[in-house]
Amino acid sequence: MSSRTVIRGGLVVTASDEIHADVLIEDGRVAALAASGTPAAAAWTGDRVLDATGKYVIPGGVDVHTHMELPFGGTFASDTFETGTRAAAWGGTTTIVDFAVQSVGRSLREGLDAWHAKAEGNCAIDYGFHMIVSDVNDETLKEMDLLVEEGVTSFKQFMAYPGVFYSDDGQILRAMQRSADNGGLIMMHAENGIAIDVLVEQALARGETDPRYHGEVRKALLEAEATHRAIRLAQVAGAPLYVVHVSAMEAVAELARARDEGLNVFGETCPQYLFLSTDNLAEPDFEGAKYVCSTPLRPREHQARLWRGLRTNDLQVVSTDHCPFCFVGQKELGRGDFSKIPNGLPGVENRMDLLHQAVVDGHISRRRWIEIACATPARMFGLYPKKGTLAPGADADVVIYDPHAEQVLSAETHHMNVDYSAYEGRRVTGRVETVLSRGEPVIDRREFTGRAGHGAYTPRSTCQYLT
Ligand code: URP
Ligand code: ZN
Ligand code: ZN
Ligand code: ZN
Repeated sequence: MSSRTVIRGGLVVTASDEIHADVLIEDGRVAALAASGTPAAAAWTGDRVLDATGKYVIPGGVDVHTHMELPFGGTFASDTFETGTRAAAWGGTTTIVDFAVQSVGRSLREGLDAWHAKAEGNCAIDYGFHMIVSDVNDETLKEMDLLVEEGVTSFKQFMAYPGVFYSDDGQILRAMQRSADNGGLIMMHAENGIAIDVLVEQALARGETDPRYHGEVRKALLEAEATHRAIRLAQVAGAPLYVVHVSAMEAVAELARARDEGLNVFGETCPQYLFLSTDNLAEPDFEGAKYVCSTPLRPREHQARLWRGLRTNDLQVVSTDHCPFCFVGQKELGRGDFSKIPNGLPGVENRMDLLHQAVVDGHISRRRWIEIACATPARMFGLYPKKGTLAPGADADVVIYDPHAEQVLSAETHHMNVDYSAYEGRRVTGRVETVLSRGEPVIDRREFTGRAGHGAYTPRSTCQYLT
């Protein structure tokens, strides 16, 4: 059965354009855009007509870094694919790319199958997978080729967490060489985990057990050193590189230098590094545990370098690294030992709003907002132009965004399955009003109208961002 929706009178904002246009949606896809008020647009009729006067009409957000139900530190991230994708929709995100995990000694296939089983039938919005490679060997290298062919085209490796996800430089180089051949993109967690583990042990021996020491031992220099090493290993392998969750200004400088040399090196940062700092990690009464993630939050002065990197395209993507753990019962596992606090922050619901606030505050332009939150993540991970833009043929993943509405972020009102907000009490200007996923209303004027199982697994092509 065919269906038609018309969105009238909004300001359509994409990474490249801002136009007052009506949008015609047919059978789940954008069929056409036409300047509002013109005879062409006026002639459109729909089963559903949405008034976007005074609002923005933007592509749904593409969050390429989430961890629903991630096993970590003896517990699991508290959002399931059902609760996490529902919260994402509330925040104007219509696609996530989550990380399937290979356990050491098991195949990539087993890990991927397990993540498909968690997600299938449960998601409110579309989703894809990256693969965390914990164990590089001849078999897993062959499996990488197969995964690229079936649409899992990116692989995360860790220079941190020895004994868990850690890869040494030889394993990293081998995976990079393989990805240079098969078109995959290596995503790097760049922190020198071997050195950090020494500093953790020394800190604990001195009785430094509070959450703030998490930030002190995971030094900016050790992020920059690992970033540098990853860049040079990728250069030797002739492979592109995407560095995840960049937080240190020294790491941004490494990326900027490599990009000036013409390398295909890319960087992602996250709202927590742009809006939060070590001041949060130092909150008393163990409240700092709410802000423990890796890479860690940095002193405030790092933020300006991240914003500048986003403006100059030395950083290309803002994702959330959504990895929520409740304060009660989960973050509390690390009372008396910061190294036992599960690492990760909630945020999948807040990203589009916080970045809109950055537009209001003058850090980035409106189009750059869409570029770093929708278009570039889609291109970086082979989802464009199906996702990340509003153009004829694109999936009708559309957000009607009210740029004037005021809201206060809070655990009282958010939809993530976690007992605190990292942004509790923060006022932001702008709010999602209506969200369509492939033309279907998921949020309709601030009511959830979606359903678990609407979201479809989305295989991806290889990176579309290489120069
Ligand atoms: O602290 C974080 N970032 N937790 C999630 C796992 C990761 O390293 O991305
Ligand atoms: Zn206007
Ligand atoms: Zn990581
Ligand atoms: Zn992560």
